[in-house]
Amino acid sequence: MSVDPVQSRPEIENLMLESRTFPPDPAFTAQANATADLYEEAERDYVAFWEKLGRERITWYTPFRTTLEWNLPFAKWFVGGELNVTYNCVDRHVERGLGDKVAYHWIGEPGDTRTITYADLQREVSKAANALKELGVRKGDVVAIYLPMIPELPIAMLACARLGAAHTVVFGGFSAEALAGRINDARARVLITADGGWRRGKKVGLKHHADEALTDTPSIEHVLVVNRLRDGCHMVEGRDHWWGETVNRQSEHCPPVPVESEQLLYLLYTSGTTAKPKGIVHTSAGYLLGTSYTHEMIFDVKPNDVYWCAADIGWVTGHSYIVYGPLANATTGVMYEGAPDTPDWDRWWQIVEDYRVSILYCAPTAIRAFMKQGESYPAKHDLSSLRVLGTVGEPINPEAWLWYHTYIGGGKAPIVDTWWQTETGMILITPLPGVTTTKPGSATFPFPGIAADVVDAEGRSVPRGGGGYLVLTRPWPAMLRGIHGDPERYRQTYWSRFPGMYFAGDGAKRDEDGYLWLLGRVDDVMNVAGHRISTIEVESALVDHRSVAEAAVVGKSDEVTGQAIFAFVILKAGQEPSDALALQLREHVAYVIGPIARPKYLMFVPDLPKTRSGKIMRRLLRDIAEGRTLGDTTTLADAAVVDVIREHSGAAEEE
Ligand code: PRX
Repeated sequence: MSVDPVQSRPEIENLMLESRTFPPDPAFTAQANATADLYEEAERDYVAFWEKLGRERITWYTPFRTTLEWNLPFAKWFVGGELNVTYNCVDRHVERGLGDKVAYHWIGEPGDTRTITYADLQREVSKAANALKELGVRKGDVVAIYLPMIPELPIAMLACARLGAAHTVVFGGFSAEALAGRINDARARVLITADGGWRRGKKVGLKHHADEALTDTPSIEHVLVVNRLRDGCHMVEGRDHWWGETVNRQSEHCPPVPVESEQLLYLLYTSGTTAKPKGIVHTSAGYLLGTSYTHEMIFDVKPNDVYWCAADIGWVTGHSYIVYGPLANATTGVMYEGAPDTPDWDRWWQIVEDYRVSILYCAPTAIRAFMKQGESYPAKHDLSSLRVLGTVGEPINPEAWLWYHTYIGGGKAPIVDTWWQTETGMILITPLPGVTTTKPGSATFPFPGIAADVVDAEGRSVPRGGGGYLVLTRPWPAMLRGIHGDPERYRQTYWSRFPGMYFAGDGAKRDEDGYLWLLGRVDDVMNVAGHRISTIEVESALVDHRSVAEAAVVGKSDEVTGQAIFAFVILKAGQEPSDALALQLREHVAYVIGPIARPKYLMFVPDLPKTRSGKIMRRLLRDIAEGRTLGDTTTLADAAVVDVIREHSGAAEEE
């Protein structure tokens, strides 16, 4: 939802009408990991709060000297300390006797399953790390990973971290071009990919995208290919190696490499308002502490829980809350490869029943999709094992919150609506189950130790009841350390709008009780199914097509994906609009960026409304997009729309 936080839009009114509150159940409170006094303890001295946790929770080779060095906007946490992230996520649990505990129950879409214990993980990660070593990977190198949701994905990430190498995971749904751009920006030496994976009952090839990307990636020396589909794929002699052959002949022993607290752990690329994606930098110790501590407190994770974060590891949610946070806590997790509707809309609920899942973390977009199918699907299954539910990625509308609460949580499981970003690394605004009285649609309060504010355009704190821009006013352990290779862009993007504060790019309201209500992005970044996509990238992809002269895209509210992409396209002279061309253009975007960016709607227009300085008036386009019922594609703007566009064209004031 792109919302002007200062002018009330319908989304805000909707949220504000919701006045129901859900106090914690005393029985839950009595057993909860989190307690109300955490807030006070953290407020007394937030650095001391994180210091204590850092000493207690991380196993160090060398203890840190200084908890925080803060040269705004550059932070260093746990300075002087040495650790290994993989040791903390795997080996130390095996040493404590938890080798037989399940780390992942993995479920392939076709129904194949694998059970991976912590001892299995230690062996597999060590072998994979030895294979990477054989291919020349050393501390400080970057490895690109382009895999479906299979166990080799977390294994590959942990193998990198074991060596002190960094990974950059590229979501399997991204195109060859997107993959190549990320590999080149990160200067990755090795790519780990697979022949393909399963999605909606079909085999989805990955290696041919990778091959296409690799025609333009000079830094890549070797490619490791997981044989998931088992029907062969093109292999380049000398460059490509089967994972099975290369990894399986390695020794099961590979000593973890001690690294400094601020060693690069990974880069993860996220959309910005300019065409070039930003390589968000996350480092080792602060990230590990932030993700594992929030995981334990916010999801109330206990040793016997079965925890399922149903995100894809290609996004930050999977990095922090499928891999690093949960593994550092020796949690038993569920990992599912495929789509929620395959073979039918109760696939998730079948998994919850089969594995007695007790904690479920997913996106509002998934909840809305389930809602649309009706409650008969969850009703077919025993969901009584569920005791905590979470959401992430976009604001959850109260209706979806209540549906989740009623039909999935049996009316009793607390819901944690968690706000955070790729950049923040860890959850920052969230209820604490057993502590916080929740309101459907509100992410409630900052996590203990976190300081957030809602400010006006001049950076002044907005009184309760008002709306504005969400900012963070203090550093936190898992915060991004920068944008890869571009410290100036880091400063500009996050720290320049309001001096001394991190501007998240989101609008927010604080109600009379101090609850925070997130209102979506205030810039031109769309939020499609919980993923940020910048308008400029989609526009560039459209203009990349030989028939297109100019394009503007906006987000249109969508009951399932939150926002759907709506493209306005001006054709080059001599080109005729047609359904076939509209389809071709939508496919072109999917090809250039990936299917997630394929416009759901496309309208050919003769003109675009612009300000005198030439900026496209997106607000007007959004009104047009929202105000009309259109089919999947509309090849010709009808006269009324053309009139509206013409009327505003040129005559409009600056936004
Ligand atoms: O607009 C906010 C929205 O998702 C953005 C971050 O997107 P990304 O970096 O892809 O990370 C998504 C998963 C952490 C935010 O700027 N967002 C995320 N969680 C919420 C949310 N909006 C409202 N409520 C949330 N709980």
